[in-house]
Amino acid sequence: MSQCPFHRQPSAPPPPKPVVAAVDPTAELAFLDEVYPAGIEPERRTRLEAAIAAHQAAPLTSKELTWAGRIAWRNHSRCIGRLHWRSLIVRDHRGIEAPDAIAESLREHLTLAQNDGTVSSYLTVFAPAECAGGPAPRIWNAQLCGYAGYRGPGETILGDPANAPFTDLALQLGWQRPKHPTAFDLLPWIISGRDGQPQLFPLPQGLVREVPIHHPEYSWFEALGLRWYAVPVIANMRFRAAGTDYEASPFNGWYMGTEIGSRNLGDTHRYNLLPLIADRLGLDRRRSRTLWQDRALLELNQAVLHSYAAAGVKMVDHHTASEEFIKFRDREASHGRAISARWDWIVPPMSASATRVFHTPMSEFATTPDFHYQPAPAYPR
Ligand code: ARG
Repeated sequence: MSQCPFHRQPSAPPPPKPVVAAVDPTAELAFLDEVYPAGIEPERRTRLEAAIAAHQAAPLTSKELTWAGRIAWRNHSRCIGRLHWRSLIVRDHRGIEAPDAIAESLREHLTLAQNDGTVSSYLTVFAPAECAGGPAPRIWNAQLCGYAGYRGPGETILGDPANAPFTDLALQLGWQRPKHPTAFDLLPWIISGRDGQPQLFPLPQGLVREVPIHHPEYSWFEALGLRWYAVPVIANMRFRAAGTDYEASPFNGWYMGTEIGSRNLGDTHRYNLLPLIADRLGLDRRRSRTLWQDRALLELNQAVLHSYAAAGVKMVDHHTASEEFIKFRDREASHGRAISARWDWIVPPMSASATRVFHTPMSEFATTPDFHYQPAPAYPR
């Protein structure tokens, strides 16, 4: 008989049958060889293996958890910035599961990560589920910072279309949008604890550092009123370490310029700003061969890099990031480690062939520890 309260609740509908991936304890614990070069104590290994076999949270020490976090970053196939994996600071908050306390910890995480512009990489690990398939605390936001996407007349959206469904949910839960909504209104946090019930946490004024976007040469650019937040803190992925899934485990690096300049502000399904910028530049949009899109992209990316530098907020350009990735790959090879990488994620979304990663074949394979996508929490529960 399971001791998990989730399975004992008489009134709750039967839980969906947990899909517990067949985990191989040996593979799950292999990362500990790096933590203990002289070898892990056999007794300790046996204890951890037993926890994994019983689908219980592995009782890692904070030091082991730190290394699991760093190696998860090093393993993550979509990340171009992995050269810096050793700099990750891991906050062991496995004892925290209540939404209030999680929100408080998230405010700290953001402040520490922003670090007055000298962005530092952090991972905060909250409590895992008490048993396989049981409810774990969750952060419902995709990232700790994000701009609302308000549905307007017809198909129009004011703000970030990627966040329209989340904005709907926040409003449904009682979030009061500003009196005068703009395209850059920061979203509140939605957090659930062990009961799965989403709770709303509006952000305190001044918590999120933002950067107004202007252009080094075109003075009209500033009047477009574009801005972006300083640090991307991914909040919806699950961190797998030693067979345990941490569903609330926000982590951050720093931005590469193209993430904002090409994708967030440029994609047609996001802020879709290329036509507007091309018009300001006086380009002919009737024919694609005028390369109006490419020229608009270039100026937008230039503006983003320039603005973050001017604001003193750390950001890497895609050429530097590409060189750093190659250095990372070579360093890993010198340690006898092949790297798992996805070419379609690593190659930057502009001037791809001018970067070395474009000319580098890559392959992806399963790794552990790692960060994974997970289904969005369901509402209402
Ligand atoms: N691409 C996402 C964004 O634009 C952020 C993903 C993580 N990026 C990073 N540099 N760590 O917000």
